[in-house]
Amino acid sequence: MPAKPFIYLDNHATTRLDPQVLQVMLPWLTDHYGNAGSGTHALGLEAREAVETARQQVATAIAATPREVVFTSGATESINLALVGAASRRPGGRIVVVATEHAAVLDTAAHLERQGWPVTRLPVASQAADCPGLIDCEQLAAAIDEQTVLVSVMLANNEIGVLQPLADVAAIVHDCGALLHVDCAQAIGNGPVDVDAIGADLASFSGHKCHGPKGVGALYVRRRERLVRLDPQVFGGGQERGLRSGTLNVPGIVGMGKACERAVAGLPAVPAAVAALRDRLWQRLADAVPGLRLNGPALQSDLRLPNNLNIQLPQLDGGTLLAELSRHGVAASAGSACSSEHPRPSHVLLALGLTDEEARCSIRLGLSRFSTAAEIEQAADCMAAAVERLTGC
Ligand SMILES: Cc1ncc(COP(=O)(O)O)c(C=O)c1O
Repeated sequence: MPAKPFIYLDNHATTRLDPQVLQVMLPWLTDHYGNAGSGTHALGLEAREAVETARQQVATAIAATPREVVFTSGATESINLALVGAASRRPGGRIVVVATEHAAVLDTAAHLERQGWPVTRLPVASQAADCPGLIDCEQLAAAIDEQTVLVSVMLANNEIGVLQPLADVAAIVHDCGALLHVDCAQAIGNGPVDVDAIGADLASFSGHKCHGPKGVGALYVRRRERLVRLDPQVFGGGQERGLRSGTLNVPGIVGMGKACERAVAGLPAVPAAVAALRDRLWQRLADAVPGLRLNGPALQSDLRLPNNLNIQLPQLDGGTLLAELSRHGVAASAGSACSSEHPRPSHVLLALGLTDEEARCSIRLGLSRFSTAAEIEQAADCMAAAVERLTGC
């Protein structure tokens, strides 16, 4: 536990476990410890039933059918299974990704590139454009052809919150006969996620990004109209229709199901309330810090996650500010938690055309449904005071 309570504004890295989610998980960590693969006794059968209830909850949350949901250890594993599993069915087929994808997509694509699959990385609109961070569908259309096996475009960016125009993307991708994978790790609970509406053939989800537990995720694999075939990447007992072997993480899966159910129950009121707090935070900061800039789309646009803020401070190193904020009880970060051990300027901000210096002077603030108005006021005051101490203005 932190020495004193933190104001937690790092909800793109992970979210607090919802106490109601913990409650439904606890029995599966204690007395109900059966293996969901054991069909010969009650402990196994009840575990299997709990997994199927969770599968239904996840499917309902994303407008899929339960047989299209494969449980994994998190979005990273789902993404690896989607990209490598689809690519290995068409050796040498082109893979198209967006330059601002999460490392789980970019590094998997780079791995495939080393094995002989050509990879195209699409640029995004610059910070000066109407909607910074958006891909250009004409560029996408020009980048793909019948040799393309898979296109991966994230629904919601984890640094600047931009939401991509997936229905348009899907039409272009399917016209060429390619598959569309959508990284939805940041999306659940922040707005509706409908795998049909976004035209996804494959979509990745994470339990811990929507107030569920860590170490669990899901991959949506379309089985209606088009049947998507993947080669498994983990071999063994044949669980999850042979797509992902390994004893199922029953407590985690139960928690993820409940977290998805609760996230969807909060729509649209919760994201609207979170957006209002986020806007308040920006306003307070912009009033207090001269020269403060917003990275990514305008807050009022429909094309930004309601819980996301990414700000650029005039000539103040983001890392220095984050350390000062941490000393004063505010938790935030500069970008993806996965790359924070190798502090380099964010590839997402560089893709927007920011300079190294501008990217280094930027921090990301992520709110959640547990953020309160009092916390936001306090965090804004704390940040304004920290900037003043560190810059003298
Ligand atoms: C957009 C995005 N994709 C994938 C991941 C990886 O998710 P997980 O931690 O469940 O592996 C993250 C986590 O930061 C993310 O933000």
